[in-house]
Amino acid sequence: MDHFDYRGGVLHAEDVDLAALAAEVGTPVYVYSAATLERHFRVFAAAVAGLGTGDPLVAFACKANPNLSVLATLARLGAGADVVSAGELARALAAGVPANRIVFSGVGKQVFELQAGVEAGILQFNVESEAEIEMLAAVAQAAGKRVDIAVRVNPGVDAKTHAKISTGGDDNKFGIPLSRAGAAFAQAAAHPSLRPVGIAAHIGSQLSDLGPLEATFGRMGGLVASLRAAGHSIERVDLGGGLGVPYRPDVAAPPSPADYGAMVARATKGWDVRLIFEPGRLIAGNAGVLLSRVILVKQGVGKAFVVIDAAMNDLLRPSLYGAWHDVQAVRATDERTTATLVGPICESGDTFADDREMPTVKAGDLVALMTAGAYGATMASTYNSRDLVPEVMVSGSDHAVVSARRVAADMMALDTRAPWLV
Ligand code: LLP
Repeated sequence: MDHFDYRGGVLHAEDVDLAALAAEVGTPVYVYSAATLERHFRVFAAAVAGLGTGDPLVAFACKANPNLSVLATLARLGAGADVVSAGELARALAAGVPANRIVFSGVGKQVFELQAGVEAGILQFNVESEAEIEMLAAVAQAAGKRVDIAVRVNPGVDAKTHAKISTGGDDNKFGIPLSRAGAAFAQAAAHPSLRPVGIAAHIGSQLSDLGPLEATFGRMGGLVASLRAAGHSIERVDLGGGLGVPYRPDVAAPPSPADYGAMVARATKGWDVRLIFEPGRLIAGNAGVLLSRVILVKQGVGKAFVVIDAAMNDLLRPSLYGAWHDVQAVRATDERTTATLVGPICESGDTFADDREMPTVKAGDLVALMTAGAYGATMASTYNSRDLVPEVMVSGSDHAVVSARRVAADMMALDTRAPWLV
């Protein structure tokens, strides 16, 4: 459920008229609904409340949407953060996420990033290789600190999602293979600067089936038992993120947070650990749209092209993953046409919707690409020397530009002529 609805024939984000907003801020622009973010966080937190021992930690996967206002909105509700770079760590801290609610994931953390996490005093590092255990041990020792780690395991499970966002299979670079997890734990335990406290896994994103997650959690349960049998104390288990969101009205919705919570309750029964979750898309996906204006409509040989002012550099998901984003006309219309919605970039992959039935629009009209709040703005680039897309947050009838448009001239100013070209 989200807070993007038609009122008086115009699409609104909460109480804000998106046509008026587009006129004021310009397009393309991402628009987030604070109430939707809050709702999704609360629904997820309620679905996992009471599971495990102590309070579960819901650590928002910042990579889905690291905008400071998005993170601050969630931090106010008690969210933690899952970060994967020094940049995300700095954002989470700046947004007010307490260090003891931050977990640091990532397969290639660099020394300066490990140092930043140690310095900040984060809850735990999810280490993904034997080599990283040695790097972190040295960094923590040099800082005179003892840091908590969880060993991220690769459970060898096919998540049954798009290959580019599957992370738990034997072919994937993530985590330590289950068969070596015990040895990695012993390796970490031998370092006085490390305190191995648990295990972690994340098998992929946009999961539409709980089966692979349940299989993963089953294997993790077995590992918890064998690590305990080997004399290790296991206090926390991080179950990752991955639950999908509905993108297409004509496709069955993924399992709900409540279904997920019930499965987790079953799978983790008797573990006696604090549980950590890292949802990203589920919290932010439906909380954002990409607003764009139609530049022109042109007829090809067999197709009608609607060319909008947003492009693949602003929202990469359709061209990178063949992802579907629903297309709405900001001014409601009952007329529908089959058209191909494209951006102005000089690549045929710059296509948002191919030969799709959609509301009829003409030059100057506004469209909204729905469910763009996760992995949208954060994956944007300036390809074709386009401006970097701005972001706006709405709360009730208020709105604020929460990330300014970076214009091409400013970015050109960062380039210099090599001395021999001056
Ligand atoms: N935890 C870890 C360690 C992750 O790698 C990810 C996502 C998450 C949590 C959050 O997963 P979520 O709950 O959002 O599914 N750019 C792609 C998605 C990449 C996901 C990468 N890792 C897309 O646009 O579909």
